Amino acid sequence: MKTAIDVQLATRLINSGPLLLVGTRCADWFSMAPIAWSMPGSKKPPTIFLTVGTHHATWDNMVKKGVFSCNVVSPSLIRAVAFLGAHSGKNMDKMTALGLPYSLGPLLEMPLLNDAPAAFECEVLTLDPKTSLVQGVIVSAFADSRWFQERWLVERGFAPVHHLGGDAYQVGAEVVRQPLLQDPPDLREDLSVS
Ligand SMILES: Cc1cc2nc3c(=O)[nH]c(=O)nc-3n(C[C@H](O)[C@H](O)[C@H](O)COP(=O)(O)O)c2cc1C
Repeated sequence: MKTAIDVQLATRLINSGPLLLVGTRCADWFSMAPIAWSMPGSKKPPTIFLTVGTHHATWDNMVKKGVFSCNVVSPSLIRAVAFLGAHSGKNMDKMTALGLPYSLGPLLEMPLLNDAPAAFECEVLTLDPKTSLVQGVIVSAFADSRWFQERWLVERGFAPVHHLGGDAYQVGAEVVRQPLLQDPPDLREDLSVS
């Protein structure tokens, strides 16, 4: 039998998309922020919708530059997420502080994380400040063939991380607890690729 829950929690019932680290750039540096709320928009062209708070540096950078990248979060990136989600790129070069290795995408020169099992570059199609919805066209996409061949190969033991809300992250059938981190963590033990 179901019981009533707080409507504020209803979004967590459908918050199913894999957690993303969304890369943008401002005048001085590349920035990256965790975004849990995303969904596919269309197949042709391939588009994605993100909900991005209009007070975030990520939103400002998208408005000014019109481009962004999406990096699917692996378990090895959860502590990076906890730092990148605790600070705004308006005040800090978070990527340099963290020392997270990345390369630049071939079409838009947006940051693609070495440790992300999949990443893609997007051009902004629409930005709606009333709803905080960003729609982007995916123009280049990359995936690690150990884990993705036309679909996620979850039978091989890898699954993208999902954010359950608060400090809870779903990794396969496990829940990992990771509070936000004010100081940049030493990622040498976390990352599988450098
Ligand atoms: C796990 C996690 C998921 C998040 N999901 C979202 C989201 O879907 N949309 C959003 O606007 N902010 C989300 N946030 C908050 C932003 O990532 C956070 O405020 C970040 O510091 C914004 O950075 P920026 O100002 O550099 O863009 C999330 C944070 C965490 C830790």
